Amino acid sequence: MQRQQLGQYPDPRHVVAHLSDPHLLAGGRKQYGVIDTEAGLELALARLSRLEPVPQALVFTGDLADRAEPAAYQRLREIVEPVAAAMGAEVVWVMGNHDERSAYARGLFDTDDDRPQDRVHDVAGLRIVSLDTSVPGYHHGELGDAQLEWLAGVLGTPAPHGTLLALHHPPVPIPMMRAAEVIELYGQDRLADVLAGTDVRCILGGHLHYSTYSTFAGIPVSVASATCYTSDPAPLERFVSGVDGHQAMTMVHLYDDRVVHTIVPVEEALEVSGFPSDVRAQVEALTPEERRELLSRKDSPIYTGGIPVPGRV
Ligand SMILES: [Fe+2]
Ligand SMILES: [Fe+2]
Repeated sequence: MQRQQLGQYPDPRHVVAHLSDPHLLAGGRKQYGVIDTEAGLELALARLSRLEPVPQALVFTGDLADRAEPAAYQRLREIVEPVAAAMGAEVVWVMGNHDERSAYARGLFDTDDDRPQDRVHDVAGLRIVSLDTSVPGYHHGELGDAQLEWLAGVLGTPAPHGTLLALHHPPVPIPMMRAAEVIELYGQDRLADVLAGTDVRCILGGHLHYSTYSTFAGIPVSVASATCYTSDPAPLERFVSGVDGHQAMTMVHLYDDRVVHTIVPVEEALEVSGFPSDVRAQVEALTPEERRELLSRKDSPIYTGGIPVPGRV
């Protein structure tokens, strides 16, 4: 639904939900005996379903199945696909180091294939490239010569609204979790050479289990946290600390000239102030000047309690 413009910017042209590292386990087993990975993913999707405008794509940047079990990929599809269909959103899967190529290909694409799992999606003119940075048998990331050549070929032709590059191992420094430097993406200079001068507008990554932002070859990079356990960036006297909390995903709003990222925590929190959703129609019905006086003016009756706002909680 087209929303009335209340500020200086129109609605974004594309809306993408970026989730990462669901780490599902077969049979509903709990990760580390504690984390209900299915519940975390389901809660994240429930939160996404209420957003407006709804996402046009759900991008999952890897570590989809903790042990690459066929039943875990099947369960992933059972959980995600109906929600995506109800939203009208395309699902973009990306390989992670916990995934295995053959199980991933069979489980998610019904194909027998143990080659790098690189794919291209077209979401209303926005190209989303899923790039497989996994290395069989290892947790660090690498890209083969053939993959880099393939990527250069894909990016050789610009897409109508540019490209999002989705990969698991983000090409960024990792100052908040030094241990993860050992399992980062190796050979990043070669990827930078391929991306130079292309239409890639943003790189989406995962792997770190906390949200972080940077640039790579001048391109914005956004790393989404996880829906299972997360890495505590401020642990107490611990080299690495995975915790049951702080789970989050990231919304990606693409405007003609920029990309906006917003962290969306997965967990519900207690509301302490706000207005019900039907107030939006009342606000939209006002003139811009009336809106400014109502919502910007410090002594507006809605802040001083002078007028009742229907349903205010
Ligand atoms: Fe992970
Ligand atoms: Fe990972």
